[in-house]
Amino acid sequence: MKFACGAKIIGVGAGLPVSIVTNDDLTQLVDTSDEWIKTRTGIRERRIVRENETATGLAILAAQDALAFAGIAGDTIELIIVATSTPDNLYPSTACQVQGAIGAPRAAAFDMEAACTGIVYALSVGQQFIGSGTYKRVLVIGVDIHSRFLNWEDRNTCILFGDGAGAFVLEGTDIEDNELLGTYLRADGNGGNLLWIPNTGSNYPHKGAEEIKPVDRFLQMNGRAIYEFAVNAVPEAVRHACGLAGVEVKDIDYMVPHQANIRIIKAAADRLGLKSEQLVTNVDEMGNTSAASIPLALWQAIKRGNIRTPSTICLVGFGGGLTWGSAVVRWTAVDQRPQEKVETEAEKTENAATESSAVANDEKSDSIKKDSAAEKTAEIAR
Ligand code: COA
Repeated sequence: MKFACGAKIIGVGAGLPVSIVTNDDLTQLVDTSDEWIKTRTGIRERRIVRENETATGLAILAAQDALAFAGIAGDTIELIIVATSTPDNLYPSTACQVQGAIGAPRAAAFDMEAACTGIVYALSVGQQFIGSGTYKRVLVIGVDIHSRFLNWEDRNTCILFGDGAGAFVLEGTDIEDNELLGTYLRADGNGGNLLWIPNTGSNYPHKGAEEIKPVDRFLQMNGRAIYEFAVNAVPEAVRHACGLAGVEVKDIDYMVPHQANIRIIKAAADRLGLKSEQLVTNVDEMGNTSAASIPLALWQAIKRGNIRTPSTICLVGFGGGLTWGSAVVRWTAVDQRPQEKVETEAEKTENAATESSAVANDEKSDSIKKDSAAEKTAEIAR
């Protein structure tokens, strides 16, 4: 599609819950092991919201972090799009609440839902508004707290997900300077029952709360079918987005895939001929944070100095719906905040758990880690 204006990403940010829940913590809830989870998924730990943390709160943190990265004020934002499947309420939308909180009185605001592909869909929608010349600055956020919709007695699903929010700031440019090179979106509604959260939304009161057991309202998944879908969807989406962007897969410096499972990511990368050093992953630390996972992975890689600027990056998502999609981006954004010195490898490891500028309050992750597993698992199970 031809646009009147170009678009580029000028900021990325994160909003994370305070609590870290390790695989060992989960062995107190279900019959599993750290070894099984790491081998089958690559996940070591995930962030899980406490009772006082909300999707809106995480989205606001991510928005503020992305605005600070871009070095701009909230009142310059003209549109806010939040991709989420797990909003705090049916309305007001999460986007409206973010709009109020970040001081963006001129901004239109709405939520959209495309499950784990939501952030790619939202980026593409933001690009359309910029491309048509309607808005100059668009804030795009992906946030999900699946922990509130998981059956913590089902080892097939509860080990996979984490909570979090990630955000991008988009800005209009001359068409020659366009850096959001191509986006590709797909859906297959016939696969909807392979990954879904039934009996929520208006279906729940309609059927009568007393007829529905809590367990019928939790996420349900056909793991093997989703695995098969994903390892095919990712290469297809990457190839199509590259075609639309006018680049070849070999021109891609980094792929930032939806962080569902390291085996899915590696199998898809093999099919594309991408090397492991081109893969941006943090599934080991975050688990599957759904609509937040792509910006969270990129945010962390940038913080750790692992992304060259400029570079060509392919963002690729897949998930419930079924949905899948990809965006090819020329990455030039630089954090406008004063930077600390580049960390050594040893410092990186040590500091990995304390990247809490975007964490929900002042508590440090070190002290979080000292939380007793019993306390965390009791809170999850409540
Ligand atoms: N701990 C220990 N054992 C477990 C387990 C757990 N957490 N979860 C399942 N198992 C068991 C199963 O019960 C099964 O036992 P059985 O052989 O006695 O029946 C065995 O492990 C193998 O299960 P299987 O489902 O074949 O494992 P798998 O290799 O397919 O891995 C997933 C399971 C869920 C990790 C994998 O299918 C997957 O990642 N799918 C995609 C899910 C996804 O990404 N969803 C979100 C997309 S947005």
